Amino acid sequence: MAFIEWSEKLSIGIKVIDDQHKKLIEQINILHSAMREGKAKEVVGAILEELRAYTKYHFSNEEKAFERYNYSGKMSHIQKHNGFVKRLGEITDQYNSGSLVISINLLDFLNNWITEHIQREDRKYVPELSGKEING
Ligand SMILES: [Fe+2]
Ligand SMILES: [Fe+2]
Repeated sequence: MAFIEWSEKLSIGIKVIDDQHKKLIEQINILHSAMREGKAKEVVGAILEELRAYTKYHFSNEEKAFERYNYSGKMSHIQKHNGFVKRLGEITDQYNSGSLVISINLLDFLNNWITEHIQREDRKYVPELSGKEING
């Protein structure tokens, strides 16, 4: 069983966004497996880097749609994205410098952040952005 299972409660009903959320969750699951299997530092480092890059890509997709359709909640939503990207940057840097190990606490943090963000914040933009064109 995967660390995070996709379920309908994570769907916001906009396919291109749901697909990106699935990919983010898959990357956290890959990180979890790598930790459990005790994969080499370079392998885990590369997974972390990919997670960071894909997170930025996904957030920028959402933010471009916020701009295009002038989403009313964009300011606070973008702040939340920025906070998480900053945290992911710190995690990556600390991991690369050897001052952080990938732990279940860290995986839980990523899991909670992503799943809560989807269910609380991303869901809020659905009434304004549903049916609009969002580039994936
Ligand atoms: Fe978001
Ligand atoms: Fe999202």
